Amino acid sequence: MHLPLPDDFHAHLRQGDLMPGYVRDLAAQFGRAIIMPNTVPAMTSAKAIAEYKKEILAAAKDVRPDFEPLMTFKLNPNYTEQDLKDMMAVGVVAGKYYPAGVTTNSADGISDFEGIFPVVAMMEKLGLVLCVHGEEPGEFCLDREPAFIKRVETLAEKFPKLKIVFEHVSSAKSVEAVKKLGPNVAATITVHHLMMTLDDIVGDALRPHHFCKPLPKRPEDRAAIRKAAFSGSPKFFLGTDSAPHQLGKKECPCGAAGVYSAPVALPLLVQEFEKAGHLDKLPDFIAGFGADFYGISRTTKQVEIVKEPWTVPATVNGVVPLAAGETLEWKIKR
Ligand code: NCD
Ligand code: ZN
Repeated sequence: MHLPLPDDFHAHLRQGDLMPGYVRDLAAQFGRAIIMPNTVPAMTSAKAIAEYKKEILAAAKDVRPDFEPLMTFKLNPNYTEQDLKDMMAVGVVAGKYYPAGVTTNSADGISDFEGIFPVVAMMEKLGLVLCVHGEEPGEFCLDREPAFIKRVETLAEKFPKLKIVFEHVSSAKSVEAVKKLGPNVAATITVHHLMMTLDDIVGDALRPHHFCKPLPKRPEDRAAIRKAAFSGSPKFFLGTDSAPHQLGKKECPCGAAGVYSAPVALPLLVQEFEKAGHLDKLPDFIAGFGADFYGISRTTKQVEIVKEPWTVPATVNGVVPLAAGETLEWKIKR
């Protein structure tokens, strides 16, 4: 079966020695990807982002020479309009809003919501997308995302021309909110939130490789996310939030949040959409609606995927991937 080559509208590639392997895993499945800025140090300047992009392109060269990283910056209240313009000139398409402390490498995130309005207004004017990690600091873990919805609504009202992506929606309430808001608000859906509930992390045994932010929630939340993904609504598209952490950072007393789905994303998506009887909805979800929302042209590239069982390795680049050790039905043909 041929599919359009997917775009990933939310991916983490880290930096340093581990980065090239993660880039190759991502570029093997995707033609373009939004690269998240929560590196250490964070992506906050045109110079750093240009350098990062160059490294990503160099690493992708052997796997997919035409791979396109779509760059992002980490939002803070201090940018000038010129800073934003300089970042756009090196390939930045979006800024990412991390509330302080809610996820991996977000200690330097936002605690003064209104303090970011001036920069957000500049982003609206320049046509930069605002990607939001929608979790309210300090709330009970399962309530953090629902508690953040009011902030997304405020942003959407105050900045009607700003494109806002409610990243990795994990609750029925946020799915509802995104549906109700105008066409300037969309949401990404991950592979793991389509598949998992909290039971898959702590229901029978502790499964640290499934631990991620926002937490997968109740069965009815997963049902709402699946319904949105299969609905054919242009407001919902793929962003894997593939977030590699080395095995030792997950299997330890204070484990890091993040699921590594890049090595298995497309086979799992085909499997889930097929099982649900909605394969016809997959092309727009993986390679249509996201591009439309970001205002970039839809891909003309294709990928072939064949029904051929294969077993997901126990580790990939030192990381335990999603579905490690499981046999999947669909395989990408190279
Ligand atoms: C992500 C990471 O590891 O960078 N972790 C996660 O659990 N999703 C950060 C994020 O997107 O929240
Ligand atoms: Zn993420």
